Amino acid sequence: MIFDFAALPAAQRYFQMIQTLMPRPIAWVLTEHESGSYNLAPFSFFTAVCAEPPILMLSLGLKTTGEHKDTRVNLERSQHCVIHIPDRNMLDAMNASSATLANDISEVEQLGLALQPFDGFALPRLRDAKVAYGCKLHEIKEMGAGPQSLLFVQIEQLFIDDEILEPADHGRIKVDAIKLDPIARLGANEYGFLTDITHLKRPD
Ligand SMILES: Cc1cc2nc3c(=O)[nH]c(=O)nc-3n(C[C@H](O)[C@H](O)[C@H](O)COP(=O)(O)O)c2cc1C
Repeated sequence: MIFDFAALPAAQRYFQMIQTLMPRPIAWVLTEHESGSYNLAPFSFFTAVCAEPPILMLSLGLKTTGEHKDTRVNLERSQHCVIHIPDRNMLDAMNASSATLANDISEVEQLGLALQPFDGFALPRLRDAKVAYGCKLHEIKEMGAGPQSLLFVQIEQLFIDDEILEPADHGRIKVDAIKLDPIARLGANEYGFLTDITHLKRPD
């Protein structure tokens, strides 16, 4: 079956895109509202775009009211965010944190999630997330109708739980993917988990 994107309504184009571009990682993003409360929301239009400087990208639509989402507003104001990689145990909380709340109501408090100071970083991290990136805003670009906000953030520090680390070749440290147990976003309201890992050496 061929989908002619020029002939499809925008909502259906979006639906077909998210059915096929999978699995997607989820960024569970903590930002600070001007009242000092912590906002938390998941985004799966999320990827790495550059290693030098180390930049991650999140792509945000608008609220149904036409306003920018709280994550963008908070990031623009405070210039910082913490991106967590949620795992299987966090599935329900991650999903619940996508509800639209008043912008000064904290999903962190509502969901009873514990915070932990993030060394010298401006914001705390979720205590139970095994991976957290402390990031600074690099650039915001707007794209297309809406518009969609592309948030480029630079990683300043990375936390990885010692429990999921193991020694690797060349004195490096690697992450045990099964122990990280990240949630993968699939199409519709489906999610997946890693169960089967293959090792493959790249050709020279
Ligand atoms: C798994 C998952 C992935 C999501 N991915 C995105 C996304 O990539 N972009 C987006 O704009 N909204 C996405 N959403 C919806 C936002 O999480 C939702 O609009 C949230 O209320 C935004 O919160 P904020 O206004 O506090 O920033 C996603 C929701 C879920 C459950």
